Amino acid sequence: MRAIVLEKFGGIDSLVYTEIPKPEPLEGHVVIEIKAFGVNHAEMHMRRGEWAEAAKVSGIECVGIVKSCPGGEFPVGAKVAALMGGLGRTINGSYAQFTRAPVSNVALIESDLSWAQLAAIPETYATAWTCLFRNLEIEQGQTVVIRGATSSFGQAAVNLAVNAGAKVIATTRSRERFAKLEALGASRVELEAPDLSKRIAQAKEIDAVLDLVGNSTILDSLAMLRRGGRACLAGWLGGLAPIADFNPLLQMSSGVHLTFFGSFVFGTPGFPLSDVPLQAIAADVAAGRFDATPSRVFSFDEIHEAHRVMEANAANGKMVVVH
Ligand SMILES: NC(=O)c1ccc[n+]([C@@H]2O[C@H](COP(=O)([O-])OP(=O)(O)OC[C@H]3O[C@@H](n4cnc5c(N)ncnc54)[C@H](OP(=O)(O)O)[C@@H]3O)[C@@H](O)[C@H]2O)c1
Repeated sequence: MRAIVLEKFGGIDSLVYTEIPKPEPLEGHVVIEIKAFGVNHAEMHMRRGEWAEAAKVSGIECVGIVKSCPGGEFPVGAKVAALMGGLGRTINGSYAQFTRAPVSNVALIESDLSWAQLAAIPETYATAWTCLFRNLEIEQGQTVVIRGATSSFGQAAVNLAVNAGAKVIATTRSRERFAKLEALGASRVELEAPDLSKRIAQAKEIDAVLDLVGNSTILDSLAMLRRGGRACLAGWLGGLAPIADFNPLLQMSSGVHLTFFGSFVFGTPGFPLSDVPLQAIAADVAAGRFDATPSRVFSFDEIHEAHRVMEANAANGKMVVVH
């Protein structure tokens, strides 16, 4: 089969097209004929050697058709999504014609949406849904700040939070992108900067913050919460550097909650993928309750261009590759 392998850590040219053997059926696993896959920052970090693990074939998620499933957990021919479970990290991932995912990280996603549209959902929506409804436990009527909201993850979170009846304050560094976030249903847009807690009108009244800018802003996010409010750290758009000299005694507000989510736990005990209503999310998209259309659709031959756009921060939403 054709696959894109990571020849060495480095720039975009480290991703090389080649032929490798098709994955064989294996107990506890699902061989999937990949129809489309989302492109993720994780794959850029793995390509550069910035993360602990990187498999030969990158790609942490895909949608496609079950080719084999010896344990019978999924019927051959079914439409499925697969994400994490070591894909692209410790086992060969989705930058290929076929992949073999652990059953714990596969979900049925029966839908009439196109493959490109379906590919925009698994990793981004599963993660956004878990952050919002598990870590942050947001409820209708609450005020939620989403920092880094123009990212594909951020846009998914805005869609889900608005659809759940929350009041969303979204952030971007660029005024030209305010209208896009308002069109998604954000009730207000703020310019993203590390001092947002000092400018935001509802300081100390915010119920929840989903912080995708990351380590450089999370303490500021905690500073805008009401007592009992929660901030979830789940993205690193502002860089991977740790929080310098973090001293809760001097830097943390009293009575607030800091929580973290990394999607690599999907499929491990306590974090079953079945917890995430992927099927219902696909149905919401199909019914037009929100728009999850990918911002860019590439062919399998265009992985270098997809990574270039990601590095240039020009994605403007979820990018997917279709076979
Ligand atoms: N926790 C998890 O399990 C998980 C899962 C998936 C992704 N992630 C992380 O979530 C983040 C978003 O991923 P994505 O694929 O959705 O990203 P993306 O779509 O490529 O995000 C691009 C956006 O990032 C914003 N941005 C870039 N540099 C920034 C900076 N220095 N400060 C603030 N904003 C900046 C830009 O927004 P503006 O120009 O409009 O400000 C740009 O529109 C990444 O850090 C990714 O690693 C985490």
